[in-house]
Amino acid sequence: MDAIILAAGKGERLRPLTENRPKPLIPIAGKPILDHILERVESLVDNIYIIVKYKKEKIIERYKDREKIEFLEQGEIDGTGEALLTAKDYVDKEFLVINGDIIFEDNLEEFLKFKYAIGVKEVEDPKNYGVLVVKNDKIIDLEEKPENPRSNLINAGIYKLDSKIFDILENIGLSERGEKEITDALKILIKEKDVKAVKLKGFWSDIGLPWHVLEANKYFLDKIKRDIRGEIEENVVIKGDVIIEEGAKVRANSVIEGPAIIKSGSVVGPLAYIRPYTVLMENTFVGNSSEVKGSIIMKNTKIPHLSYVGDSIIGENCNFGCNTITANLRFDDRPVKVNIKGKRVESVRKLGVIMGDNVKTGIQVSFMPGVKVGSNSWIGASCLIDKDIERDTFVYK
Ligand code: TTP
Repeated sequence: MDAIILAAGKGERLRPLTENRPKPLIPIAGKPILDHILERVESLVDNIYIIVKYKKEKIIERYKDREKIEFLEQGEIDGTGEALLTAKDYVDKEFLVINGDIIFEDNLEEFLKFKYAIGVKEVEDPKNYGVLVVKNDKIIDLEEKPENPRSNLINAGIYKLDSKIFDILENIGLSERGEKEITDALKILIKEKDVKAVKLKGFWSDIGLPWHVLEANKYFLDKIKRDIRGEIEENVVIKGDVIIEEGAKVRANSVIEGPAIIKSGSVVGPLAYIRPYTVLMENTFVGNSSEVKGSIIMKNTKIPHLSYVGDSIIGENCNFGCNTITANLRFDDRPVKVNIKGKRVESVRKLGVIMGDNVKTGIQVSFMPGVKVGSNSWIGASCLIDKDIERDTFVYK
């Protein structure tokens, strides 16, 4: 049996995090989403076909030496169905299909029992998903983003299928948004075949929006175990489950509260404060009197002094001027609003800044909750950023 992982999408709702990387490479609890998926799939299948297109070279670079993995490039047409069709001439008769932007705990074994199955998850508010109507474990209907959902079970983006799906996909047209979509083919399949609903066990999240990244990060950090291998200077306090990799260094008088991960090459302190649910990726620096909480700091980013970063995602190679501050909570305690593809969307109660790569801030720069800062932007001294900033922008007073 083979697996197909769909990893060719543009991930537009996750800009600016996807400006320089495909969505499956966004790190969650210290490793890309795709690493998490591969951990679940690798032992179950003979071959894994990863469908790539957007920023494909980054996926190929990371996984090119892995056994079982082959990369297939999606053609001109967009859509999940088109991505799946790319694998038509490669896979076994029966195969698993997994969206490259989901993160889950289920071991997938239940799927192997059936010829046709769709993974489902029960959610409180299914309106923004594909909703499935299920009778005695058999799927009888599928509606995309319905106004009045007929159940709380949503399509979790994991399928067990056979080559029949390719025949259906070849014979359907494009959807209203000009894409060839898996769900259009599944609607036909469920009418013709017995397609089982497999309820996923444990955590599952579709990483579509920036705060989903932080929620999943939190969930998987709660699973880590204390493992300190880096160099620790005098008077450092480390509480709870903290991973400090070999080659990382925590300098004198710093405090680290787990769960947290500090990856190799990173330096913390002296006198830094790392609070729970923080991940410092490789070669980062959080220096004197800087505090980081509930955030993902991607590799090579420097926060050298007197700064506060809370509930934020900061891209690679950023540099924060002294006293750069992120606000992460509104006075009225209402959910922070974020612009997603031109619409104001309510997110969560605490959300800081979502920043792309290579951003520089001058001294005393502040960010209001939920703002997005595009890659390569420079923000001059003393600016208060309360609106999103496009990539390659120079903001100054
Ligand atoms: P989506 O989340 O629907 O699309 P996307 O990844 O492009 O994100 P956004 O809507 O924010 O732009 O995709 C679901 C999965 O299918 C995801 O793992 C990416 C994959 N996919 C492809 O492989 N090729 C495609 O053309 C599309 C649209 C998605």
